[in-house]
Amino acid sequence: MTAPPWRDEYLVFGSPCIGEEERREVLACIDSRWLGAGPRVHRLESEFKDYVGAGQAVAVNSGTAALHLALLELGLPAGSEVITSAMTFCATANAIVHAGLVPVFADCDRRTLNIDLADAERRVTGRTRAIVPVHFAGRPCDMRAVMRLAGRHRLRVVEDCAHAIEATFEGRHVGTFGDFGCFSFYVTKNVTTVEGGMVVCDDARRADRIRVLASNGLSRDAWRRASSGAYVHYDVLEPGFKYNLTDIAASFGIHQLARIEGAHARRRELWDFYRSELDGLPLCLPADPEPGTRHALHLYTCLVDDRSTRVSRDAVLSGLHDLKIGSGVHYRALHLQSYYRDTFGYRPGDRPNAEFVGDRTFSIPLSPSVTDEDARDVVRAARLLLS
Ligand SMILES: Cc1ncc(COP(=O)(O)O)c(C=O)c1O
Repeated sequence: MTAPPWRDEYLVFGSPCIGEEERREVLACIDSRWLGAGPRVHRLESEFKDYVGAGQAVAVNSGTAALHLALLELGLPAGSEVITSAMTFCATANAIVHAGLVPVFADCDRRTLNIDLADAERRVTGRTRAIVPVHFAGRPCDMRAVMRLAGRHRLRVVEDCAHAIEATFEGRHVGTFGDFGCFSFYVTKNVTTVEGGMVVCDDARRADRIRVLASNGLSRDAWRRASSGAYVHYDVLEPGFKYNLTDIAASFGIHQLARIEGAHARRRELWDFYRSELDGLPLCLPADPEPGTRHALHLYTCLVDDRSTRVSRDAVLSGLHDLKIGSGVHYRALHLQSYYRDTFGYRPGDRPNAEFVGDRTFSIPLSPSVTDEDARDVVRAARLLLS
């Protein structure tokens, strides 16, 4: 503990900006007496598909569910290998496991924190069938290179766009390059439905299958049956999952999406402020976005530069906490988490860049709910802990 906290309130990491429109929509949804999947979910799907420029969008109740269903829909043989980054949230690899497939971790690039595609290519075997690039922190992967690699080895591509709703690569939204794009609307994400997600693709038949899989395998969900004018029976087409989004959740998402560009502008202001004010501290700050791309600015991740400070990352985390500043760790290297280490035999040193980043990284608050005063407090705390 370096100083008494000067803030009255704890600055919650990733706290969302919920407006009057969301409040009114939730109440209107309650008054409509249709709270489950219905017209508001359909509206969110339609507006999201238009926003990202995809042919189809299916709303689900988490980004994890989006990944799971997209991977299942590929219909790959059980035990096929799927390459993803060791620098991602566990949900990316968990979904691969849940789909009966084997995650193979490639290392990340230390500058971009995205998957290192040369390392990914070295890991392709006769059993590899797909790749799941993660647009880390909102920075688009080089999708031209991903699609070339996939083409060379006939791999399917599922993009993990959990961080990257606003991100574009060469003018095109991420999520629209591969077979599927999977988005998260978790409470800290750039658009939130509290919990929720979206699968996008271009093929109507694939989208229909995802819709069926997300509603217990039923041929028609409750809203489609109720709005068809007469009682309609459903048929169970396959043993699906209970992954649908609700209209209450979509009530948030519709208005979050409508405000996304204004929120992104605020993220840009905070990003630029941190960039200039944290310069000179023993930190590696996020690299500038690559030309021809749009970064979604989801996370501001810094690495403690241990060549020029003896302060450890964990000391920074607890120092920030003591000063009432919430922070996050995105992420400790996934291949060394117990399940992946023990099941697939990974060892320390196997993915050196992901381990390097995972031992040094911490993220500071970047959501549009962060005020100028909050941001000044974050900088003041960082200077106190690291100068
Ligand atoms: C990279 C990444 N992929 C997938 C997910 C899963 O999304 P959800 O929490 O909506 O299930 C997350 C969520 O934090 C994520 O960060």
